[in-house]
Amino acid sequence: MTQTDKDRVVIFDTTLRDGEQSPGATMTHAEKLEIAGLLDEMGVDIIEAGFPIASEGDFNAVSEIARNTQTSVICGLARAQIKDIDRCWEAVQHARRPRIHTFIGTSPLHRAIPNLTQDEMADRIHETVTHARNLCDNVQWSPMDATRTEWDYLCRVVEIAIKAGATTINIPDTVGYTAPVESSDLIRRLIEQVPGADEVVFATHCHNDLGMATANSLAAVAGGARQIECTINGLGERAGNTALEEVVMAMKVRSDIMPWHTGIDTTKIMNLSRRVAAVSGFNVQFNKAIVGKNAFAHESGIHQDGMLKNAETFEIMRPEDVGLTETNIVMGKHSGRAALRSKLKDLGYELADNQLNDVFVRFKELADRKKEVYDDDLIALVTAGDSENAHLVIKSLAVACGTGGPAEATLVMTVDGVEASATQTGDGPVDATFKAVRELHPNAARLSLYQVHAVTEGTDAQATVSVRLEEDGRIATGQSADTDTVVASAKAYVHALNRLMVRRGKTGTDTPEISYKDVS
Ligand code: KIV
Ligand code: ZN
Repeated sequence: MTQTDKDRVVIFDTTLRDGEQSPGATMTHAEKLEIAGLLDEMGVDIIEAGFPIASEGDFNAVSEIARNTQTSVICGLARAQIKDIDRCWEAVQHARRPRIHTFIGTSPLHRAIPNLTQDEMADRIHETVTHARNLCDNVQWSPMDATRTEWDYLCRVVEIAIKAGATTINIPDTVGYTAPVESSDLIRRLIEQVPGADEVVFATHCHNDLGMATANSLAAVAGGARQIECTINGLGERAGNTALEEVVMAMKVRSDIMPWHTGIDTTKIMNLSRRVAAVSGFNVQFNKAIVGKNAFAHESGIHQDGMLKNAETFEIMRPEDVGLTETNIVMGKHSGRAALRSKLKDLGYELADNQLNDVFVRFKELADRKKEVYDDDLIALVTAGDSENAHLVIKSLAVACGTGGPAEATLVMTVDGVEASATQTGDGPVDATFKAVRELHPNAARLSLYQVHAVTEGTDAQATVSVRLEEDGRIATGQSADTDTVVASAKAYVHALNRLMVRRGKTGTDTPEISYKDVS
């Protein structure tokens, strides 16, 4: 089938808003800027950069992303309130191409929260969309929980929003309730029946509670939607949002039956996936479609045999199409800085000189201990939390453990530049080590996640450890990698504590003062 402009699907990425607002996924200001830059480079059409009224941090991130972004439209979220819309405009107005996205929950359950009648809500929609349109000529409107909104009322409010000047109408499946046939029908019928529908773009915004977000989004496109809202790795609250990589690759691989195209450079997918996993602390499950570690692994003998004869036997897309370069043993202890820089570039990491120096030192240490340094080892080095300018820095760790009694850890660490040491016993080496960290830096943070993964195979494989801490509504994740699991655990714990301290100083709690669920 030939593809035309009417087959172009706009990709709206909301990793930095719907993805980041999920508990525990909070990113720092610098991380948000970095992700926005990568999304822009990848060809995302619209970046939803945050919810400006939610907190000072969100406002500042959206403003700076708006100022710095070259190509993508920069969108901010606003409830159906004049003060939200004004704050949103204040943040996005600096963008070359700004968009205001305003929404209100229209289903009976959502209408009950602000206690508005259908007529009162209709008036609110008219007033707020008109206000947004007076500020910005690119306005998106969403009836939250559209898939559980009465059909007649949905048609009525969509028509009001179009008449008030909305240029994109987004139909959210807020609780992941719809199914493909319904998703497709809903959009098709709205386009057929709502006056003025042919003058706006319809968008689909699906959540994955029943595991159907990708199917529902593509079905909505079949029904006439031309914007898909999604996040990298499907990051998002509960079961997450539609995964960008899944819808984009589905349209690319099955263009024979889904003749729609996007502007995404798919070779950038893997790098973005890794960066989002690293900064959000949400690891990608091994068997996740497209970006999971096993997505292109062929373990069974019959598969490997087929792959050697003809890759297409078991592969519907090539790893390089998503930016996955082959895992070769190319780096060793004699490799120099230039080789490391070039290898990292192939893997999608362009580091500044000081970052490269730091990774190079750690690479040399690793290459001394580990015979074969694989691509995944290098990625783990780059994504492990750095200790530059950190409050807490581990100097040394010695652990005694085994069957003979409790484990004992002796830790030397600097706390704001002052060196101190502590010895603690515990129920295993990690417990003893964490207690030693707490002795040197007393804190009440609750450990809500402790996860260990082997980066490669073999007993000398590096372990990546993720740690998530919670304290007074603030959440911080830390990551580290080392061939010694206990050392990686200690570093990940300290990395999370360092991030928690930054959060204490800068942003107050991670629970924003206002959430997009406070609809009144
Ligand atoms: O899921 C949802 O309904 C949302 C809206 C704010 C668009 O994220
Ligand atoms: Zn959502």
